Amino acid sequence: MKPVLQSPEIIELEDTEQRRGWQAFTLSGLPDMISSMHVCHALNALAGTPLLDRIRNGPRAAADGLLEGLDAGIAEGFLRYLVSRGVLERQGGDYLLTRLGEDLTSDVSLARLGVYVGAYGPVTTRIGDLLTGRASYGSDVARDGGRLGLHCATLFSFFHTPVVVEAMRGRGARRILDIGCGGGQLVVDACLRDPELTGIGLDIDPDAITVARELARRQGVADRVEFVVGDAFSPADWPEICYEADGLCVMSALHEHFRHGEQAVVDLLNEYAELFPHQRILLVGEPELRYDGRENDDDFFLVHVLSGQGLPRARGEWFSVFEKSSLECRRVHTRPGAGPRMCFYDLTPRPGR
Ligand SMILES: C[S@@+](CC[C@H](N)C(=O)[O-])C[C@H]1O[C@@H](n2cnc3c(N)ncnc32)[C@H](O)[C@@H]1O
Repeated sequence: MKPVLQSPEIIELEDTEQRRGWQAFTLSGLPDMISSMHVCHALNALAGTPLLDRIRNGPRAAADGLLEGLDAGIAEGFLRYLVSRGVLERQGGDYLLTRLGEDLTSDVSLARLGVYVGAYGPVTTRIGDLLTGRASYGSDVARDGGRLGLHCATLFSFFHTPVVVEAMRGRGARRILDIGCGGGQLVVDACLRDPELTGIGLDIDPDAITVARELARRQGVADRVEFVVGDAFSPADWPEICYEADGLCVMSALHEHFRHGEQAVVDLLNEYAELFPHQRILLVGEPELRYDGRENDDDFFLVHVLSGQGLPRARGEWFSVFEKSSLECRRVHTRPGAGPRMCFYDLTPRPGR
């Protein structure tokens, strides 16, 4: 005779203190925050491995090489996790992106994520050390400049290049100089959009200049653009070719000079005015914060505070810097509905100064 299997007795142990402790944690919203943090890391990893490209090209199964080159055990669990988070769905043995997954992995979404997780992750994971002085930004802790350049280029190209091209065209500039050009996306895009433009890009980072030259070659504009290594904040030492420019722009780089105080920025603007007396425009593009916590404003604020970059600076504070310089601000272009939200100041040498 078969023995009758008895279910074991189940005893739930609860008490008020334990229930309150758990309620406090669940009501705090922290469980969702922890999940969001892991989704961010997971998406960053998805984009950083061949998995995303393989899935983007349509439903794909492990049997079709989806996991090729990856640790199969981890990859299978990882895909299952992404299904449970609604990023992927499974149909038979195939994995595919859901609508949410497509939005999360758009070029803009991944670039925004890459700025915070990839480029500034090495900084935000060291907040405690920076706060207590166990580590200093620049020597012990640094953002990943290569990734920052890459993601900024994607965002800038998508949201801001049209504004710069319009502003340059409106002032009749024909040869532009992008000061702090990073990987050269702006100069290359501008030349692609306007066949009569030529451009020069200058950056202090030789790796960025190599990337920029390669981009120009790939995009077929290498005959109209030059990229040179130089210090944006020491214009008297720039390679001679830079002085051929009649339209200057400096995008998301000038604020870094506030590290040396406001007067240093005023002096630099004066130097730009003096060295380029016939400039048609100096377009200064700077991110603008609203301090309302929307659209990652406070995340943006935080990474700048941690890396001592002299941001945030409200529009009025920029005006007072320009006011002290020999450049006058003729017009402001804004770009709502973009990230980072930018404000573009159209400057020209002030008559009689
Ligand atoms: C936030 S990225 C912006 C890149 C590009 N202008 C854009 O908007 O996408 C700042 C760039 O300024 C460059 N940079 C920082 N300090 C510089 C300096 N002193 N001289 C020249 N370039 C500098 C960095 O190497 C980096 O490429």
